[in-house]
Amino acid sequence: MDQKHVVGELDLDQTLFAEDQIVGRLREMAAEIETDYDGKDILLVGVLKGAVMVMADLARSLNRHVEMDWMAVSSYGSGTTSSGVVRILKDLDTDLTGRHVIIVEDIIDTGLTLSWLVTNLKSRGPASVEIATLLRKPDALEMVVDVKYVGFDIPNAFVVGYGLDYNEKYRNLRCIGTLAPHVYS
Ligand code: PRP
Repeated sequence: MDQKHVVGELDLDQTLFAEDQIVGRLREMAAEIETDYDGKDILLVGVLKGAVMVMADLARSLNRHVEMDWMAVSSYGSGTTSSGVVRILKDLDTDLTGRHVIIVEDIIDTGLTLSWLVTNLKSRGPASVEIATLLRKPDALEMVVDVKYVGFDIPNAFVVGYGLDYNEKYRNLRCIGTLAPHVYS
């Protein structure tokens, strides 16, 4: 697909990560996970919708059996900011009792969503809950979140692509970049 014209790569100010960098980093994270969870079952919990691409590439980089399940949550916030008050739109189908859970995310911004999610999942009796996120914005964090696997730390800018959206668009860009001001101004 001609990404530049079909899904708006021209709307990017700057490309932060090309597809091969993203996939390469996810392979490294998968190798760490394989070592850390040797002999243990893993349940990957993807947080819709942004984590779809990360889940697809991370899961396929794992040379072992994993289960996958999905949650959809909605943060009560205004537009691009989250409030930390989270509503479950789609819950897991899986009983977490005794399970080793890895939450798979595209991005941790303020940390409010993940903080809430970890507390929620830990209340369901799992053996462990850890987080794997492709991106993290250290300067935007409002809540300390213990993240075991981080792909890249990025500046506090609005990023799209590889699952990340602006008004539901750009999720299908293969790269990740910052949106040009002309798109949202
Ligand atoms: C994004 C991302 C995280 C959350 C992080 O989801 O996937 O779930 O925001 O933000 P926080 O650290 O400030 O809480 P979003 O609400 O944009 O939904 P989406 O995944 O459907 O795009």
